Amino acid sequence: KGINVTASNIVLVGFMGTGKSTVGKQLAERLQWTFRDSDAVLEAEEQTSIPDLFRIHGESYFRTLESKTLAHILEGNNQVVATGGGAVLAETNRSNMLNNGFVVALKASPEMIIHRVSSDSNRPLLQGNLEERVHTLLEQRKSSYDFAHMVIDTTELTTDQIVDMIVGEA
Ligand code: S3P
Repeated sequence: KGINVTASNIVLVGFMGTGKSTVGKQLAERLQWTFRDSDAVLEAEEQTSIPDLFRIHGESYFRTLESKTLAHILEGNNQVVATGGGAVLAETNRSNMLNNGFVVALKASPEMIIHRVSSDSNRPLLQGNLEERVHTLLEQRKSSYDFAHMVIDTTELTTDQIVDMIVGEA
């Protein structure tokens, strides 16, 4: 652990609904860096939506594209990169992130996550009983975000406070 002095990107990881995109945009603005959302880049490159990719080709196909997109993005510099919640599941992605940036994991309480994702039906892994799905996935991914250089529990924090903390450390 520790700050990688060659870090030229800040990579935000975390479960769905932990605020990666919101924090990422504001952080990029503060640093005058480019904001990239890996899910959005993937959708633009594939000219399709993530729900359609899951529906038509399945999750493993999506994961392959996700790794490819992430690797491509991480070739760049001075970017704040928001990753998809499951990008951390592949070891290749984790080392890629650690080697090419300062990795920040955002955490939040299950209640906060459920609240944040409940207005958005665009997440294929959260179809069905929302509370149950979130709890199951959180349990499965319990330690998946701990590889990061910095871990922030955002539950009681404002976006501004989170940005301040990251700027102070990265
Ligand atoms: C996923 C999270 C989503 C998206 C896809 C799978 C996951 O991104 O990549 O639906 O496995 O947690 P967000 O974390 O931006 O919702």
